[in-house]
Amino acid sequence: MDNRPIGFLDSGVGGLTVVRQLFRQLPNEEVVYIGDTKRMPYGSRSPEEILKFTWEMVNFLMSKNVKMICFACNTATAIALDEIQNELGIPVIGVILPGASAAIQKTKTEKIGIIGTQATIESKAYAKAIYFKSNAVKVTSLACPPFVPLVESGDFDNEAAYELVKQQLHPLVGEVDSLILGCTHYPLLAKHIQKVMGTEVNLIDSGAETVRDISVLLNYFKLNRKLSSKQSENRFYTTASAEQFKKIAENWLETSVEVETVSIEDKEGKGEYEEKNSHCNKK
Ligand code: DGL
Repeated sequence: MDNRPIGFLDSGVGGLTVVRQLFRQLPNEEVVYIGDTKRMPYGSRSPEEILKFTWEMVNFLMSKNVKMICFACNTATAIALDEIQNELGIPVIGVILPGASAAIQKTKTEKIGIIGTQATIESKAYAKAIYFKSNAVKVTSLACPPFVPLVESGDFDNEAAYELVKQQLHPLVGEVDSLILGCTHYPLLAKHIQKVMGTEVNLIDSGAETVRDISVLLNYFKLNRKLSSKQSENRFYTTASAEQFKKIAENWLETSVEVETVSIEDKEGKGEYEEKNSHCNKK
């Protein structure tokens, strides 16, 4: 048993799609979440920058005494997971392998599509993960750079957003029977994506698959939170506006949350954090 929280990181609000799955599948666990909204999108950044920023989020989470870290960000997983996993003394899990495994299970025609950020697609991390398990599959990848800013704007439940999704996904329509949402922001656009791709196409939400693996790791390492422990106090941090983050988080998680703005930039390389006084706990 281990009552410490699980740390989640993402470039912004996308990782909340993984947290929502955690609330459903493992509601007894406690969450510390950091979204680096100030520096998002990560997907158009260089691997060096993504690695540095991911380390800064990891160090922030480690300062909150987490028992496990989930990279709830495909871009960070593609670029930084291997290096950081080898350096930390706690379990660290990413979203790519679980998503790749689920797609292999689901496909019937052996034609899998992957959509993600430019950095994730260019890294070929999904294709490698799929071919590592099965080389009988044909993989088609597509970067969709406008999707992350669209989701972060919070203004995507409309016709204009649907048209944008349709325009971006055009090359994949009719080409695949399973589509991996290879960016944790994309499940927020799932309704539009499903409509464009057709109801017969399986949408694979890597986040949901990852939470199943988190559950296995908690069991394996005996890290589950004690049932009798006090109610979880989930904490959410962002590097930009707490208000905008809170609006999207409460809408998506269907519960009220407290959000705090923090600065995680480790200018001296000493792992020091300056917590600004901009706590947002308006209900
Ligand atoms: N949610 C991140 C991912 O899964 C978003 C990337 C971004 O900031 O571009 O890749």
